[in-house]
Amino acid sequence: MIRFQQLGLTFPGATRPVISGLDLTVAAGEFVALVGASGVGKSTLLRIVARLLAPSAGTADVPALGDGKRLPVAMVFQDARLLPWRTARDNVLFGMERLTIDPAEAARRADALLEVVGLSAHAEKWPRQLSGGQRQRVAIARALAVEPDVLLMDEPFGALDAITRETLQDELAQLHMQSGRTVLFVTHDIDEALYLADRVVLLAGSPASVSLDRSVALPRPRRREDPGLQALAAEIRARLHA
Ligand SMILES: Nc1ncnc2c1ncn2[C@@H]1O[C@H](COP(=O)(O)OP(=O)(O)OP(=O)(O)O)[C@@H](O)[C@H]1O
Ligand SMILES: [Mg+2]
Repeated sequence: MIRFQQLGLTFPGATRPVISGLDLTVAAGEFVALVGASGVGKSTLLRIVARLLAPSAGTADVPALGDGKRLPVAMVFQDARLLPWRTARDNVLFGMERLTIDPAEAARRADALLEVVGLSAHAEKWPRQLSGGQRQRVAIARALAVEPDVLLMDEPFGALDAITRETLQDELAQLHMQSGRTVLFVTHDIDEALYLADRVVLLAGSPASVSLDRSVALPRPRRREDPGLQALAAEIRARLHA
């Protein structure tokens, strides 16, 4: 689904690369969490997957442009970035307006996804009438509506309180189990990464490359208090602070 070989990225005008010699392969259906210090290049890597940035060295095989009925990637950010003048439902429909699908099909997808994220009763509300967690659910529904090959999530739960965060993590884990969609998920939170992902990839160094790539071979649904998760967390923390 995604393959980086000896990927390098230097921003225009910069003297040093941000990323260099990075190798990473993500298979279809995998849920990969990307962790690493602030400024290491996690968001930059997502932007390369989304073709918003082109590599300066090496190769980046990323999802091909779609057929007009779906998009190769969709992005969810820390802030929901909803259009304030559109209702929740119309925000979900917005993502599909670039696609050539008929309006009845778009409406069907929007309603089904609002149901999945538990917002059917709030579909006609404006973003300002929704809580932070509800807005983030709309953003997730909007991203899924375009049926992306890869769902890119850049600290999607970073701005939420701890209880809402855990609820949305559980919903995302469930959604991933059901849909089998490929997910690239950036987080600062190692426990969150381990709870959700099939693999945790640690970016480190300046320029950045993959410093650790650990499979999380624990059954789903997971338990937060699983000792296996805690052992892996300790290992990743030790490497992060090395
Ligand atoms: N458009 C740009 N032009 C020049 N440098 C940039 C640009 N965007 C990001 N950078 C630099 O690239 C590096 C990586 O940035 P990036 O946003 O990918 O980090 P990050 O790992 O996502 O950090 P955080 O966890 O704080 O979000 C940083 O040093 C940043 O200053
Ligand atoms: Mg970032």
